[in-house]
Amino acid sequence: MDQYIIKGGQKLKGEVTIGGAKNAALGILAAAIMTNDNVLIENLPDVKDINVMLEAIEEIGARVDRVDRHTVKINASGIKEVSVDDEFIRRIRASYYFIGALLGKYKDAKVPLPGGCNIGSRPIDQHIKGFKALGAEVKIESGAVIAKAESLKAAHIYLDVVSVGATINIMMVAAMADGQTIIENAAKEPHIVDVANFLNSMGANIKGAGTDTIRIRGVERLHGTEYAIIPDQIEAGTFMCMAAATRGDILIKNVIPKHLESITAKLLEMGNEVEEYDEAVRVIGAASQRHTDIKTLPYPGFPTDMQPQMTVTLSLAEGTSMVTESIFENRFKYVDELARMGGNIKVEGNVAVIDGIDRFSGASVTSPDLRAGAALVIAALAADGISIVEEIGYIQRGYEKFEEKIAGLGGKIEIISSEKEAQKFKFKVS
Ligand code: EPZ
Repeated sequence: MDQYIIKGGQKLKGEVTIGGAKNAALGILAAAIMTNDNVLIENLPDVKDINVMLEAIEEIGARVDRVDRHTVKINASGIKEVSVDDEFIRRIRASYYFIGALLGKYKDAKVPLPGGCNIGSRPIDQHIKGFKALGAEVKIESGAVIAKAESLKAAHIYLDVVSVGATINIMMVAAMADGQTIIENAAKEPHIVDVANFLNSMGANIKGAGTDTIRIRGVERLHGTEYAIIPDQIEAGTFMCMAAATRGDILIKNVIPKHLESITAKLLEMGNEVEEYDEAVRVIGAASQRHTDIKTLPYPGFPTDMQPQMTVTLSLAEGTSMVTESIFENRFKYVDELARMGGNIKVEGNVAVIDGIDRFSGASVTSPDLRAGAALVIAALAADGISIVEEIGYIQRGYEKFEEKIAGLGGKIEIISSEKEAQKFKFKVS
């Protein structure tokens, strides 16, 4: 099994370019099958979750041409199956977007219940509430969601919890329903806006994405488009924390600084320098950093997907910080791994109390999920000595060429799959 081997202690310095937003891309790829015309999508991240999604799109009969590593052309006129099922799609959370896309286009969908990172119970009741409100009959049978409608009719839908997935799914169905749908208490994340812009570029009529009330006037058909995905806010935030935690200096290019405001604000409170440019941010890690408190919230609040990376960074700040996780109940599993590296963090319920330490020390740790895996890499880069990070498959689900980007900043990191390779790395860096 592949692992990362990391020799810590380098201040990461230089420039890194951020790829397209994974979580926007997942919604956009599903929405791309809602037209029979050609759709060209640019700035697609080349990561595992995206490739699984593309395989599933091909599997149901659409044509997928990889124009280059980050560009794909999709033509869904050949779709014969409204039933998506392969062993891989079951493992990714975003499989649920096929329900919205297929139900909107064909009024019929059968999709396995979503998998994804084990970070909490992750129900989809709000998605189902939306589909039903729009006129679908929805049942769950043998582990699959089956949704069918005679006709789709607009509705006024209030979401009981702010959900990214439910907002996107309901937008897709409502885009092709009769009349004007209103989603209240909608999620406002940048990727909601991106999926809405993409659908609008296909002829949909969606207004208010990015606010908590979205209005969607249904159209009869969607047409082809060419579209470039926004930069990945979480990949950018991960490199921002890497600069702070290693006391480095990183220029992070191809970002929308506004999307990073909550992360920037916290890094500044800790005493770091953050410079904002039109499409870049530069983070200069302060030698001595202060504690602060964080609570994860839906956008524009502090993102849950940045919680582990920030907890690692706060571990290396002076004093006691409190991190409250209010989105997913199971997102502190990496704390035990950090303890092996000398981290001093106590978790009670959904609050982590972090007592700052001077240094992490290298250890063998295991990624419990995607973002926690990235956080452990940050800890290893800032640690004294050598660390091994196992289960890097999680990290590769969402970070493209992570090790290459880190190595480009002077980090000592390699992928290894044997003890011999580990020895070779140790010899090289000693
Ligand atoms: C998306 O998950 C992202 N995944 C997650 O990113 C991200 O952590 C999350 O949004 C929050 O920003 C994708 O976009 C594929 P939610 P999603 O529906 O849509 C509750 C990553 O690391 N809820 O916004 O599944 C839910 O339990 C991943 O890239 C219901 O109760 O998240 C949670 O507490 C991990 N009922 C909260 O709402 C529902 O029907 C927010 O979940 C839906 C959600």
